[in-house]
Amino acid sequence: MCGIVGYVSGVPLANAQHTAVDVLMGGLKRLEYRGYDSAGIAVVTEDGALESRKKAGKLSNLAELLEAQPVTASQTGIGHTRWATHGGPTDVNAHPHLADGGKLAVIHNGIIENFASLKERLLAEGVEFTSETDTEVAAHQLAKNYRATGDLTEAMRITTTQLEGAFTLLAVHADLPGTVVAARRNSPLVIGLGEGENFLGSDVAAFIDYTRSAVEIGQDEVVTITPDSVAIIDQSGAPVEGESFEIDWDPATAEKGGFASFMDKEIHDQPQAVADTLLGRMDTEGRLTLDEMRIDESILKSIDKIVVIACGTAAYAGQVARYAIEHWCRIPTEVELAHEFRYRDPVVNEKTLVVAISQSGETMDTIMAVRHARQQGAKVIAICNTFGSTIPRESDAALYTHAGPEIAVASTKAFLSQIVACYLLGLYLAQLRGNKYRDEIGLILGELQKIPAKIQSLLDDHKDQVLDLARRLKDTESVLYLGRHVGFPVALEGALKLKELAYIHAEGFAAGELKHGPIALIDEGQLVFIIVPNRSGRDNLHDKVISNIQEVRARGANAIVIAEEGDTDVEQFASEVIYVPATATLLAPLLTTVPLQIFAMELATAKGLDVDQPRNLAKSVTVE
Ligand code: G6P
Repeated sequence: MCGIVGYVSGVPLANAQHTAVDVLMGGLKRLEYRGYDSAGIAVVTEDGALESRKKAGKLSNLAELLEAQPVTASQTGIGHTRWATHGGPTDVNAHPHLADGGKLAVIHNGIIENFASLKERLLAEGVEFTSETDTEVAAHQLAKNYRATGDLTEAMRITTTQLEGAFTLLAVHADLPGTVVAARRNSPLVIGLGEGENFLGSDVAAFIDYTRSAVEIGQDEVVTITPDSVAIIDQSGAPVEGESFEIDWDPATAEKGGFASFMDKEIHDQPQAVADTLLGRMDTEGRLTLDEMRIDESILKSIDKIVVIACGTAAYAGQVARYAIEHWCRIPTEVELAHEFRYRDPVVNEKTLVVAISQSGETMDTIMAVRHARQQGAKVIAICNTFGSTIPRESDAALYTHAGPEIAVASTKAFLSQIVACYLLGLYLAQLRGNKYRDEIGLILGELQKIPAKIQSLLDDHKDQVLDLARRLKDTESVLYLGRHVGFPVALEGALKLKELAYIHAEGFAAGELKHGPIALIDEGQLVFIIVPNRSGRDNLHDKVISNIQEVRARGANAIVIAEEGDTDVEQFASEVIYVPATATLLAPLLTTVPLQIFAMELATAKGLDVDQPRNLAKSVTVE
């Protein structure tokens, strides 16, 4: 997930109120929420020279570089703020990437899945690469097509037919002052329409200071903007009429994609976060491939125990993982808080696989636990959302979640993508060790592929119900969460979200434990969330949890039930039911967690609290 801006203007520089650099840097500032590992721009001057500047780190580093080494004033350019996927966050890997002897500049958001085979071909043709990125492959491929056609739009169209994966690409060429060419597949891009100037952006925040008039670009479409024209074509080259719309956002919320908070936005990013984490994991024979898994297969085959270490929300993702990994791989799996693991003197050796889960990759407790595990001879796999951070660097292998930057302190989209990454790891081990046939793995992956659309329909159909519930219950002083099987960690995560955001006492319990103590807490009006397992899961679990609903209702509880669509059995016992789309038993947390996130966010909002930066917390805890 990166931020992208493009700009062209026909206003003579002498009369211009802003230059390309002003527009690009302003747009990148608003898009910095999409990534801030590095940033760069390229401009094309009126007399046909291409100039580029790029720098690792936040946008302010690029601004300093531009002050020290300004580019020539111009009215055509592209800008990029990066969230690293292929290649570490360095100056060299920053975008733009140049080709055609430095005359073509390309920026990219997404992941090009077939970059390795394209790169091999280009290398054989004598192309020299300077970075480790997949983007540079697209740049050279585009340059090759431009040389063959002499037409940058046509070259971009051909390039999109040769690339696999997800991409938004923007290109400028020294031959073409006043032109930016772009394309998109599975990554966002919108056009901004101005007077004698036009814009491109990952979202409208990129150009909201200059225009309120925008045009959508469809899947696999190519767009060419000049100061006074916007031309869109589809993949066959046929012209397309883009859908126009007016932007009615408050500029203050622009970088939040129009949402009131980053957390709200990140909850809505979840379909994309799950889809991106699943992207590019299958080879042409339908085998699951985890490219980053650089641990020798013979070692992975010989492990006899898995220990998942993490803190906070990431540890709950690990608890979900345990149910799946043990079921699919038959490998004993423990989950432990990283800070407890290290000081307990755990039994860990060369046959132990340690899985360290961390959104930031910088949580000191988890770093120390990784070091301890490696000292004991264990192999460590990091599941991490931040490319090049400490935990993946210090681990033997890294499996990246592709959730994009998570800004709100309380984790939402990172949690779902961590669970997805754990499922991928479990399926990979099951495939490698022969616990599951390829078709069985294919079936589960098929179910996983349907999850993004199901999260979307849950947001579309049930968000308002949960918002209303949270507003009604804003004066609640204590909330209990009950779940069983994979619903248990969901209950723990639901309670954590409410504690973090609304400062309300909340506790999650295993529903089976209710009768062993927590039931004493139930009193008239006590709010209890109950996550009901689906009927096709473990025998009797569904009915047992329904009995729990009756037990708490009989004692006066306000029982809010989260159940699978079509499970009408729950209705007669629940005070209210929030239905989620049906899915496979082990995948249910990817759906049942979402209403609990929305509930915590809205209850905190109704209490007038800052949901993005709750009191006393930090996004990444870099002390032990
Ligand atoms: C902090 C944050 C939590 C997060 C935990 C682990 O406590 O407030 O939201 O779950 O750290 O962070 P990590 O970056 O390692 O996933």
